Amino acid sequence: MEVVIRNHEHQCGATAADIVADAITSGAATLGLATGSSPLSVYRELIRRHRKEGLSFAGAQAFLLDEYVGLPPSHPQSYAHVIRTEFTDHIDIDSERVHSPNGVANDIFAAAEEYDALIRDSGPVDVQLLGIGGNGHIGFNEPGSSLRSRTRVKTLTEQTRRDNARFFAGIDEVPRHVITQGLGTICDARHLVLIATGGHKAEAIAAAVEGPLTASCPASVLQLHPHVTVVVDEAAAGQLKNADFYRYALKYKPPQQKY
Ligand code: GLP
Repeated sequence: MEVVIRNHEHQCGATAADIVADAITSGAATLGLATGSSPLSVYRELIRRHRKEGLSFAGAQAFLLDEYVGLPPSHPQSYAHVIRTEFTDHIDIDSERVHSPNGVANDIFAAAEEYDALIRDSGPVDVQLLGIGGNGHIGFNEPGSSLRSRTRVKTLTEQTRRDNARFFAGIDEVPRHVITQGLGTICDARHLVLIATGGHKAEAIAAAVEGPLTASCPASVLQLHPHVTVVVDEAAAGQLKNADFYRYALKYKPPQQKY
């Protein structure tokens, strides 16, 4: 695991965008996309590079991490809609190749299994972008999620519903259930890139990076993955005990070594 500490959010975005751009230009074609506010700086930077530097996503496909049960893709807060408006509508990726779980399927349990199979059959995901919830969740894998879980229907904690209520008219509008890639599904990706900014993420980042491997902090599963980059600003790095070493390692990173 490499921890990259940057001064500002836009620098975090640029670092994660470098990783995605490297993958795209070297022929990797499958991206794992996350919603929430954390990856927005990455999407802004990738859109800029597409417009100004000709970075092309024409051959790429993408898989979203998760979706609310009961929200159709036309709903402004469905993740299928959010990812289009925040990112994929502004680049040259084929919109038919941007996949998300079907939260309005007649059988949402079967839909979850089908989504997992689709990723397995057309993956693996080359670069998976991740945010982190204040309680250490990734995707919508709340504390207690099996570290080897596959895509399935999950119930949100009241805390996550409250956190996400800001995107809705009120907490009553936030669905209770979701379909999310499991922690095992996420870990099938070749390279995991977790982005976190702000002091409200500091505790979760410290638990994920330096705490014990435990289902109580789902993001701690990253410790088992062979290729992880955690990109944080100073505030989100605020509770990392080994922050000085991460800075040192970055300063002396061999020039030919990629993220
Ligand atoms: C939601 C998403 C996660 C995201 C988390 C944090 O629960 N399902 O993928 O990481 O929120 O969101 P934010 O980045 O807005 O803090």
